[in-house]
Amino acid sequence: MAETQTQALWWASESFWRKMAIWVTAGSFVVLIFLTFDTVKQITAGTKRVPAYSAINNRIDYVFDAGRNFQVPVIGVEEPLFGKKLTEAEAEAMVSHGKLTTQAKNCMGCHTLLGNGAYFAPDLTKAWLDPAWGSKDAREQAMVDFLMHPELAAHNALGRRMPNLGITEDEARATVAFLKWMSSIDTNGFPANFKPIDQADAAAVAAPVAEPAAPAADLAASADVSSTPAQQ
Ligand code: HEC
Repeated sequence: MAETQTQALWWASESFWRKMAIWVTAGSFVVLIFLTFDTVKQITAGTKRVPAYSAINNRIDYVFDAGRNFQVPVIGVEEPLFGKKLTEAEAEAMVSHGKLTTQAKNCMGCHTLLGNGAYFAPDLTKAWLDPAWGSKDAREQAMVDFLMHPELAAHNALGRRMPNLGITEDEARATVAFLKWMSSIDTNGFPANFKPIDQADAAAVAAPVAEPAAPAADLAASADVSSTPAQQ
């Protein structure tokens, strides 16, 4: 009995755990380096989930994807912001200017961007698609006007007002570009159950009025009763 107790077990030896610690640390280090590069790749503009800045030249929609079971942004037909198609470099400069504006004015002090920030005011991830802008044609100017003079009009009846932050027209337009670009980012369905502004072209035909279904014979009697409550 005393012999078995003194016999060294390989998995209980100090040297085994020392080597184990070294290998696990080294292995984790390699994994972390891989993940760092992979993350940078995933969040770089111009990749699968984060579109190129020139996405602001197109319509951004937010539609249900049955395969993934949530809504995803879809880059649609050409629809340049402020009616001016930009090159990739020009679009990047404009979106960057907008992003710098949101940082300089600390929008995150009240808002969240992609879920990060404060919860005093709405998340801005899909602000570009918010139906509260009225119509897609009025939206661009409405956003610029709102950003420059948010104190003038309640926007979506939150009961809170955004203060005037002294945003210039240039900054406001760039911020709109940043918000439009941000709405094109695939955020795995965040925010969920969001109904985007109607962007269908005006020529869309009115939906056909559904024919009222004739009640089945065995249901006709009860249907008659419920439709004429005043008789009894
Ligand atoms: C002091 C808090 C505060 C700061 C800072 C602030 N906002 Fe707001 N913002 C609000 C509030 C409150 C509302 C809702 C106003 C309303 O509904 O009338 C709002 C609404 C908005 C909306 C409309 C949101 C939507 O979904 O339609 C946009 C866009 C917006 N803010 C952008 C910005 C940007 C860009 C900045 C930074 C430059 C900023 N805000 C800084 C408080 C703030």
